[in-house]
Amino acid sequence: MFSKLVSFLVLFVAVMPSMAQPREAIDFNGDWFFTLEDDLQFRRADFSPTNWKKVSLPHDWSIGFDFGEEYPAGNAGGALPGGVGWYRKTFQLPKKDKGSHHILYFGGVYRYAEVWINGKYLGENINGYLSFEHDLTPHLRYGSEQNVIAVRVDNSLQPNSRWYTGSGIYRDVRLEKRSSVHLLREETFITTPEVSTGKSLLRVQSAFNQKTAGQARKVALKLQDKNKNIVAKKTITLSDNQFEDQLEVSGIALWTPDNPTLYDLHITVLDHTNKVLDVLQYQVGFRFFHFDEQKGFSLNGESFKLWGVCLHHDLGALGAAFNKSAAKRQLMMMKDMGVNAIRTAHNPPAEEFLDLCDELGFLVQNEAYDMWAKRKNKFDYHIDFKEHHIDDLISLVKRDRNHPSVFMWSIGNEIREQFDSTGIAFTKRMTEVVKKLDPTRPVTAALTETNYDKNFIAQAQALDVLGFNYKYFDYDRLPTEFKGVPLIASETTSALQTRGVYDSVQDTIQLWPASSQDKFVTNGNPDFTVSAYDNVAAYWGTSHERAWLEVKKRKFLGGIFVWTGFDYLGEPVPYPYPARSSYYGIVDLAGLPKDVYYMYQSEWADTEVLHLLPHWNWKEGEQVDVWCYYNNADEVELFLNGHSLGRRSKTEDKLHAEWKVPFEAGELKVTKIKDGAVVQEIVKKTAGKPVDIVVNVEHDRYAVDGKTDLHFLTVSLVDENGIVVPDNDVELSFIPQDNVTIAGTDNGYQADLSSLSNTKRSTYKGLAVGIARKHNPEKEAKIMIKSNTIEKEIRIK
Ligand code: GAL
Repeated sequence: MFSKLVSFLVLFVAVMPSMAQPREAIDFNGDWFFTLEDDLQFRRADFSPTNWKKVSLPHDWSIGFDFGEEYPAGNAGGALPGGVGWYRKTFQLPKKDKGSHHILYFGGVYRYAEVWINGKYLGENINGYLSFEHDLTPHLRYGSEQNVIAVRVDNSLQPNSRWYTGSGIYRDVRLEKRSSVHLLREETFITTPEVSTGKSLLRVQSAFNQKTAGQARKVALKLQDKNKNIVAKKTITLSDNQFEDQLEVSGIALWTPDNPTLYDLHITVLDHTNKVLDVLQYQVGFRFFHFDEQKGFSLNGESFKLWGVCLHHDLGALGAAFNKSAAKRQLMMMKDMGVNAIRTAHNPPAEEFLDLCDELGFLVQNEAYDMWAKRKNKFDYHIDFKEHHIDDLISLVKRDRNHPSVFMWSIGNEIREQFDSTGIAFTKRMTEVVKKLDPTRPVTAALTETNYDKNFIAQAQALDVLGFNYKYFDYDRLPTEFKGVPLIASETTSALQTRGVYDSVQDTIQLWPASSQDKFVTNGNPDFTVSAYDNVAAYWGTSHERAWLEVKKRKFLGGIFVWTGFDYLGEPVPYPYPARSSYYGIVDLAGLPKDVYYMYQSEWADTEVLHLLPHWNWKEGEQVDVWCYYNNADEVELFLNGHSLGRRSKTEDKLHAEWKVPFEAGELKVTKIKDGAVVQEIVKKTAGKPVDIVVNVEHDRYAVDGKTDLHFLTVSLVDENGIVVPDNDVELSFIPQDNVTIAGTDNGYQADLSSLSNTKRSTYKGLAVGIARKHNPEKEAKIMIKSNTIEKEIRIK
């Protein structure tokens, strides 16, 4: 009997028609055609493009060019071109889809984006960092007829940014099929008015797309843990085209950066026959936090220092084209360093970036603007600000308010209006708008300068939390100047470094440029490099150590946001062209950590750290500064070719140990000593001639949803003993052999002018990175990496 029942069930399951999804997101990133010509004809449905390039989205056309001085974005904007580009995509929809709604979603287009469907104009999007949608439904053709989408992207007004923006449809595009009656994501707001490991409340509100919600009768709310155990559920009978209700939950695990526990919330809409009309799904995290003007920040009732970095949106050699694996790679490197918070400088990130922050555990300060009505660049957002800033702010808050990672809204960075009374009016208005849509998160702004005039103070007092940029020597003044306003160090440091470059340490921190009188450094290096000892900074900044020590010792500062986690394209202070990317990163543009990464790791992470710098290839007798970052030890001892050079330790005021060592080829060793015993040691050896490469393929770690999209190949140039050769770089070719495209190459050097899309790249200080994209992710890929004398085949499983 039992076996009969089983076979009946198996049969039943097998023949059951697959249920049509009431809401389906169709990946729309493939098969677009693109041109850099500009002609209004391109919008027409009957236009047939010839010689257009086939591209996949996300796509950034600027990144494919060699860097050049002639581009109007300037080197501050990344020394790459803008211009106008057109995209077209043709598609068919089955007849059965008639009656559904089709919404075309763009995650982000830089910059002005005009969209047509079948020749019909749908409108223009202004803000290059926000997502937008168009309802295609009234204009679609079904069955064998073709539909054509045309998008004109205009990034020709330059300069329009203080950093590299990228150009094109640089985030995901989806076609969303919805039932004719459906819930609106932008009207859905999920909050946790009560959070504890005992009883918690999850409040859900949402609204339908149309007034005639008569068809929809019930909404079922279901909260599941990640093992699909139902934690709470409830069904609501609808009486209106909107609803608000709550689930009572007990025994939940709290969301923290160390333990980012998420639950899945399903909101299901049913008609009177219990047919499913729509389903929305969200990841929910339970956490609460508080800012206190004396005690700083606390998370879930416990004191918590924000260990944060600012990040710009580019992904190095991929440019602005968003890729979730590449973003995950950046975030995982920050996680390993001990970072628990991110400030998205100075614009809203891709939505998928916030999904990653929810999942990996980062608190996010989500920033709206770098300027308001007063410009920082001739053609930046100030030209659209007056007309659009409120709508854009609404769109940002509605887009991102359901992410547990997002904990603060920033309405601006170093805004020019901060000293005048218009600044107060804008601050009050924007704060009010944000609070109305989201009363659960504080509003902040990153302010700067030490001119404590009354307008500046009034503006700060209109904020929930004051972000203060730089000027650490003024920190102690802040609590008295801004009474009652909690404080964070929203931006610090701006130290400068090129990975792997070491110039002798001076007595003081070198300021490059030295003051506001100089645009560029006057005594910099001829090859546009900056030493990677932590001893050079822009005049408004300071070293990593100093900035962190100043925040660390002040309890009233909720935390630090270091400028920046990664180098980014543009803003190559302290040099003019040919420098084209920044020197501020803790990690270089290629994703290779600079030494100071280990200083943060020794302070913030739960990892044993022992890191020695510099490399050990110098001229005989040359005096070399040797530094060591470490943790969990009483002292460290340095040995050169077996002879001790003495024990040293960190001090209250210095987060590394240091020695001055006359160079002698051979072996430099450092040991970590705890309670009198050696607990760890590392060795640096003098490298000989380069004879081989070692290739480390990073992949599974950056898999998203079980899939690996990109593979990062870190190549080390080594001598016959496998020691990395820091002073004899070679040019490498990354040659795709089978099932693979080279998506980009980089070495982190800020003045390398060949396009980051090139398949040839020289190593820099012994290292280079190639980014491989498999065509078929299930199959093995083959790449050849070659120099004049070295040849290596790499297989990626
Ligand atoms: C800050 C600014 C950042 C960046 C940084 C460079 O003042 O907020 O966007 O320009 O300086 O040091």
